[in-house]
Amino acid sequence: MKPMSQWQAICRTEDIPVLGARRVARPAGVAVAVFRNSQDEVFALLDRCPHKGGPLSQGIVFGTSVACPLHNWTIGLEDGCAKQPDEGCVPRFACKVDNGSVMLDAGELATLALDLVAPLAGPQTKNAGKLGDESFDVQTPHSAQ
Ligand code: FES
Repeated sequence: MKPMSQWQAICRTEDIPVLGARRVARPAGVAVAVFRNSQDEVFALLDRCPHKGGPLSQGIVFGTSVACPLHNWTIGLEDGCAKQPDEGCVPRFACKVDNGSVMLDAGELATLALDLVAPLAGPQTKNAGKLGDESFDVQTPHSAQ
């Protein structure tokens, strides 16, 4: 049985841009992206696209979906799953709005999806351009040549 939620106030609804998102950093694990759509509905997903780990918080919200900024996969905000023909899901976090305050479950923030790491990319990282067996398109800055 799942323990009762301990709701934690994160921000006001109006603090989240319409059709955009805010990131909620956690002591451990990938940040949580909190989205707001045009109906002022609020959703929370791990800020990590199920494709190659793109930052969903930087995507465009439409309806109850977000378009990933990296390769334009469409991810459902209600279930965290990619729309067909793409496949895969990102963890979804419980979220509610109470009198204008956006609330997340403190227990989930502390424990959910801690095993999913942020993608590593960039010329300074040992595994630049790698996420598992997948490769990112990483450009070397001009100044580094
Ligand atoms: S990383 Fe999101 S669509 Fe590729």
